[in-house]
Formats: sequence, C-alpha cells, structure tokens
Amino acid sequence: MSGTPPLAQPGPTWVPQASLIAREAGACLREFLAKGVATEYKGDVDLVTVADRTAEKLIRARLAEAFPDHGVYGEEGTRDRLEGQYRWYVDPLDGTTNFAHGIPHFCVSLGLEHRPPGLDPAHDGDLVAAVLYDPNRDELFSAEKGSGARLNGKPIHVSATPVLAESLIATGFPSRKRHESPNIHFYQEFTLRSHGVRRFGSAALDLAYVAMGRLEAFWEFNLNPWDTAAGVLLVQEAGGRVSGFAGQPFRLDSQENLASNGLIHGELVGLFQNMFAGRAVAPIPTPQEFAAARAARAAR
Ligand code: IPD
Ligand code: CA
Ligand code: CA
Repeated sequence: MSGTPPLAQPGPTWVPQASLIAREAGACLREFLAKGVATEYKGDVDLVTVADRTAEKLIRARLAEAFPDHGVYGEEGTRDRLEGQYRWYVDPLDGTTNFAHGIPHFCVSLGLEHRPPGLDPAHDGDLVAAVLYDPNRDELFSAEKGSGARLNGKPIHVSATPVLAESLIATGFPSRKRHESPNIHFYQEFTLRSHGVRRFGSAALDLAYVAMGRLEAFWEFNLNPWDTAAGVLLVQEAGGRVSGFAGQPFRLDSQENLASNGLIHGELVGLFQNMFAGRAVAPIPTPQEFAAARAARAAR
C-alpha cells in the first residue's frame, strides 16, 4: 500500500442534492422574514433567531437523508459523524443581523470538505463542493473542485480589474470582542485606495460576489469554517485567489481571510504587510482634532 491519500471521487450528486436542500432552507428563511421573528443574543451583539435554528435543523435532516455517511458541522451546534471522510460546513443563515433588521441580504451556505483517512485532525482536507443560495434574489452559486463555479447554472469568473485603485471591495466586522479588532484601520486605508469598501453583512455572499466579479476582493478577521467553506471554493473555482493576510495558504480555522480576483492579490498583501509593520498608513484627524480645526476656522 502506498502512503498517498486517496483522492476525493467526484460526487455527481453533491451539488444537485445540496442545491435542493439550500433552496428549501432559503424558502424557509424567506417565510420567517415575511412573518418577522424575535431576536435573541448569543453574545453582546451576536444575534440568533428561530429562523437560524429551524433552517439548520432542516439542513441537518436533509443532508443525513441525501448523504448518510457525510459529517455535518453547523454554526448552530450540529456536530454529526465528524469521523467520516466528507464533512459539510453549514451556515443556515449567513447575515443574521441583516435578517433580524428586516434587510433582505443573507444566504444559506453549504461547503463540503474531503478528509482522507489518516489526515491529521489539525489539518484541512480539500474543499470539494460548494452551494450558496441567496433566497431574496434567487441566486444559487455552486462549485465543484476542478469544474469551475456557476451562478444559476451558468459559469462565472472573477473580475479582470488589475489594480486596487479601480476595485470595489468588501469586509466585515466580528460580532464578538469587537473592541479587540483592528479592522477599522484597514477599512480606512482600503477605502482611501479603492472605489470603496462595502460592509454588506454576509461574508459568504461577499465571497460569492468576488467569485462572480461584482467585487474585486473581500477580507475579514476571525471568520469560522461555516462562513467561508463554500465561498472560498467558489472564488478558487472562479479563477480567484484566497489566502491569509501575508499571502500564506488559506486555512479553514486560520482567522484570516483575504479573497480576490488574483490580479490585485499581491497589492493587497503588500498593503496588509505595510500596515502590520506600521508603514504606509495615511494619517486621519481624530474627532477632537477635527473639532479643534473647525472651531479655529469659525473663529477666523
Ligand atoms: C456573520 C456575517 C458577517 C460577518 C460576521 C459573521 P452570521 O455571520 O457573515 O458578514 O461580518 O463576522 O459572523 O452571524 O450572520 O452567520
Ligand atoms: Ca456566518
Ligand atoms: Ca449564521
């Protein structure tokens, strides 16, 4: 026996079956949105609703019917069959804060990882299939490793924009320990150097938008595998690149996610490196400095 791990066999039913499941869960989210639901707190500002839990329950049951030997790792607590070779990372509702405020921008995200037997539990397997469904726009993004990425069945590709200065990008902010996040500094700097930075509130959709060229790039600190598994494969299969902020390989639990059309990746990594080293940061006035300057102008 050679020590080479077996390759994932293409799963002809992964994407079609998961697409049905994501559509069913998406329809359930839309019904909850129309009815309106009460919001609970998981942390200071980390929201959860009955819609998150109901959608995860539905997805968990449907995945077990469709792929009885696949594992399921869901944001709302599902941890089923994680010893198996295949594992679905499930975010039943990515964009809960939007949902809770009645903003129709959220999605269902299902990403499949292949973990060959013997793989060190601390190592990632290969992302092999992705389905991400936006029920408000009826947009279903899908990808299978080596077969490209699609939107509603049609091939999609990252944008051809070659420079950050001509790019529209997106980021997000964590819902836990926000006071420890340095992201506002990066938000500021990227805003000055691009067409702008959007904060849409669904990391999974941000990644899908990079994959189909609506955005040139997306970054965020401290995401979880259920936020990124599907979107990362979409970007890669659409011809883009995903890494950590220093350009290192992306890890599902790396806490750093930088996705781009590939063409501006070097520029983005360079800016991150400069900023972490304290270089190339444009000075901005503090509110106090601004108020003092305004008062001085008024006194003239
Ligand atoms: C959140 C969204 C948001 C991102 C947060 C995530 P949730 O996921 O993806 O865009 O900024 O970091 O936690 O809680 O809506 O599933
Ligand atoms: Ca999420
Ligand atoms: Ca969620």
